[in-house]
Amino acid sequence: MSKVFEPNREFSKNARIKNMCEFKEIGHEVDDDYEAYWDKLAKEKIDWFEPYNKVLDESDAPFYKWFIDGKLNVTHQCIGRHLKTRKNKAAIIWEGEDGSRRIITYLLLYYRVNRLANLLKNKFGIKKGDRVVLYMPMIPEAAFAMLACAKIGAIHSVVFGGFSAEALRDRIIDARAKLVITADGAYRRGTPYLLKPIVDTALESGCECCENVLVVKRNFEDIDMVEGRDHIYNDLIKHESQHCEAEVMDSEDPLFLLYTSGSTGKPKGVQHSSAGYILWAQYTMENVFDVKENDTFWCTADVGWITGHTYIVYGPLAMGATTIMYEGVPLYPDAGRWWNMIEELRINQFYTAPTAIRLLHKVGAEQPGKYDLSSLKVLGTVGEPINPDAWMWYYDVIGGGRCSIVDTWWQTETGGHMISPLPGATPIKPGSATFPLPGIKAEIIDEEGNPTPVGEKGLLCITKPWPSMIRTIWGDPERFKKSYFGDCKKDGKPVYFSGDGAMYDEDGYITITGRTDDVINVSGHRLGTAEVENVVAHDENVAEVAIVGKPDDIKGESLFAYIVTKTDIDVDSLKKVVNQLIVKDIGPIAKIDGLLLVPGLPKTRSGKVMRRLLRTIAKGEDITQDISTLEDPSIIIKIEKLFKGE
Ligand code: PRX
Repeated sequence: MSKVFEPNREFSKNARIKNMCEFKEIGHEVDDDYEAYWDKLAKEKIDWFEPYNKVLDESDAPFYKWFIDGKLNVTHQCIGRHLKTRKNKAAIIWEGEDGSRRIITYLLLYYRVNRLANLLKNKFGIKKGDRVVLYMPMIPEAAFAMLACAKIGAIHSVVFGGFSAEALRDRIIDARAKLVITADGAYRRGTPYLLKPIVDTALESGCECCENVLVVKRNFEDIDMVEGRDHIYNDLIKHESQHCEAEVMDSEDPLFLLYTSGSTGKPKGVQHSSAGYILWAQYTMENVFDVKENDTFWCTADVGWITGHTYIVYGPLAMGATTIMYEGVPLYPDAGRWWNMIEELRINQFYTAPTAIRLLHKVGAEQPGKYDLSSLKVLGTVGEPINPDAWMWYYDVIGGGRCSIVDTWWQTETGGHMISPLPGATPIKPGSATFPLPGIKAEIIDEEGNPTPVGEKGLLCITKPWPSMIRTIWGDPERFKKSYFGDCKKDGKPVYFSGDGAMYDEDGYITITGRTDDVINVSGHRLGTAEVENVVAHDENVAEVAIVGKPDDIKGESLFAYIVTKTDIDVDSLKKVVNQLIVKDIGPIAKIDGLLLVPGLPKTRSGKVMRRLLRTIAKGEDITQDISTLEDPSIIIKIEKLFKGE
């Protein structure tokens, strides 16, 4: 049984939710009247332009709708309403990799966003409902651009800057985006890198929908500009007014799309709403991180992922907090960079991924001791299971045994945290995300909705709709239904299945055991095996390929490929060409780490590749599963031997 760490008493005294009694009381309130609970929160938290007239509409399930006919604008919630009390408070503190800083107060943020919103409208004709793709480095303009879209009702789709031109192109086309906002480039590991040329390549074929490119000059490197299509932000923005009327948005109007990997080849454009999303972004900021008025909050994610959306931009700003944005990598100039920033900026809540924790522990275990980390109150982790060793280092060394660790389980689709400790209330256990948050009905069940016995793996489902849930997959409602509501039922009704497995312990604590589908979590980045396999299969040397996750000390999981070749290429050369293809078609995050040449793939008689067996081998475990259903059981024995080098 793992050790339990009680919350810090001093911290709990001032926490929003102070103990488990309070936590349970809210649970009773939710159980008594689910809708009344959300009604109360929505009224209390959101500054509505016009009130809603119904909390939840389930008539078209699973296309649930929340806060029907309510009117708001997310930028009013995030900026406008704070001007009365927080005009000169830092909204965003940005640190460049070179150590330079920019401090953007709420008033300045208001003006920046308004100017850009005006530019989008006036120069590029962007209207409510139009899609705008952002392909940006970690600079404040990324946040300005997201918020400027929200101000005028355009739907942003941020594409992570590490994705390749091909991946960017697919996302521009799928969203039929009218405009791309990018930057010339930024800095990484002390050297400038370029983004704009990647946009140029993406737009070379099939992106007719995209009429213009707006380029923020960040590193002032030389870039090509296409006459009439490309425009420099730094020149144009000066001429726009700093006043802009916010578009009146319906609760259910889409705020953004964010593409994420699923178990089939094509990434899914996860669509989020305005009211439900911002409500939960704000509530979880306030309660899971327990951010106070004078606190400084730092989430190290990239704005290209959901964590960056909810916990760098929308959540912190919705509650009027100060959010940090850092341009660079954690190891530059050395593994003390982040700890140095925590000391200098007196960071109070710090939120990062287990991969980063493991990396910083491994390459710079002595570094934290050089810095004063006493400002820290809450430490967060997200994106993948955290192993108890990394958890303990985070708790003891970074948190000085004083800070709660909030191991937050959630997904692009959930919009915000779903299962997490509350730092002032929940006794924590290493490696457990503990309990669902108040209002969230997360349960571990089987396909029919029966609860999973303690200690056994089950399916992690959310059995009631919640406000910040995915509304649909952009342009593909059928896929939305099938992907999330096709596998599990409770009381005969389809319920949301996350794709993750999980387990209860004897105290009801939840441990996430990882994906149950063909999605792999590499350094907290979600990759669909089918997506990578499709790319690899295009290489002329490859006859067949299957990719699985292999445990990795730093990344959590890495990609391991089993390939049947049709030429006599050697393994090293094949790995090189395959990785070149992957970098071109997806991006460096999807590179394979391991590769085994095999005589065939283990298939059932109906031709389905049994990835489970390949996963077992990649983990270095013995095959205990029944292999009699395979078309040719001898294949798996051969693969196992090859893997072990026998
Ligand atoms: O497998 C779970 C894992 O990350 C997946 C969601 O990935 P994505 O949509 O990219 O969002 C990542 C950031 C929210 C989940 O299905 N995951 C996320 N948080 C945790 C986690 N696995 C274990 N523990 C967590 N705290």
